[in-house]
Amino acid sequence: MADQNPDSDRRTVLITGSASGIGKEAALTLHKRGWRVFASVRNPADIPTMMALGLEAVHLDLADSRSIDCAVDWLLQRTNGTLYALFNNGAYAQPGAVEDIPRNALRAQFETNLFGTHELTTRLLPAMIAAGEGRIVQNSSVLGFVALKYRGAYVSSKYALEGLSDALRLELRGTGVHLSLIEPGPIRTGFRQRAREAYQRNIVPVLSRHREAYATLEHRLNNEEFESRYTLGPEAVVSSLIHALESDAPKIRYHVTTPTRIFSVMKRLFPQSMLDNLLAKVQ
Ligand SMILES: NC(=O)c1ccc[n+]([C@@H]2O[C@H](COP(=O)([O-])OP(=O)(O)OC[C@H]3O[C@@H](n4cnc5c(N)ncnc54)[C@H](OP(=O)(O)O)[C@@H]3O)[C@@H](O)[C@H]2O)c1
Repeated sequence: MADQNPDSDRRTVLITGSASGIGKEAALTLHKRGWRVFASVRNPADIPTMMALGLEAVHLDLADSRSIDCAVDWLLQRTNGTLYALFNNGAYAQPGAVEDIPRNALRAQFETNLFGTHELTTRLLPAMIAAGEGRIVQNSSVLGFVALKYRGAYVSSKYALEGLSDALRLELRGTGVHLSLIEPGPIRTGFRQRAREAYQRNIVPVLSRHREAYATLEHRLNNEEFESRYTLGPEAVVSSLIHALESDAPKIRYHVTTPTRIFSVMKRLFPQSMLDNLLAKVQ
């Protein structure tokens, strides 16, 4: 039967967490490059804004399986059951010392950053495998392969994402579906503001032996202008994303920003004790 959808011959991509930061930059850039972009947002109130930008927008909360189900059904209906690419971008950071993170806060971190991302991927993979082609791009982090203090919940969720992705990549051999990980260092977005909200929700600094360190952490979380000299704009991530989506030979890992490149080399060459001495200095 003839396909009646005029958009069906364009490459399709679903981007999670696209109302802000890297996701929004990715959605707008790919749209301009001729991709058919499905922009998913955690907060339904963001849908009209995304539509006004010319994007096809849908509600998708990674922490909620029902929301994932509805979004996948909506998407596959619009594309006659196909999807070329998925950019797993939506995530947040739960700051706090490991010993101060309540079980529910750690669980919530994994519900969004890992379990929801995994569930969405498994729902969309069959369409890619049936088509014999596809791209999955994971927005990981430099904190997906090195740890820093007071970021244990986020670090563990990104390490887990890296492990799951490495296994999946091996399992996808021969299917035509490629999986890439992007590992950004500091990127200028509203990420810190959302981390501050998670910190305020779940951490009680006065009860902690880390309360002095929390004062420094709060200072960093409260000051948008506090930024490393290595911080880049979200377009730095998007240029790696474009390579991962459009190249005939997508890379397994994309190191974005100088800190990621430096730590990647150090991780391979330095003894762990020496690396720890350096990492422990970062507040
Ligand atoms: N910024 C950095 O320095 C940096 C560095 C390395 C890696 N990253 C990664 O880059 C990605 C994008 O972050 P960003 O820097 O662009 O920060 P951001 O502006 O905070 O974007 C994150 C997006 O994820 C969404 N999100 C949060 N929880 C979600 C959920 N349960 N379901 C669906 N979406 C959810 C947020 O939606 P709401 O706004 O509605 O909550 C937001 O739109 C993340 O995976 C992050 O780990 C960022």
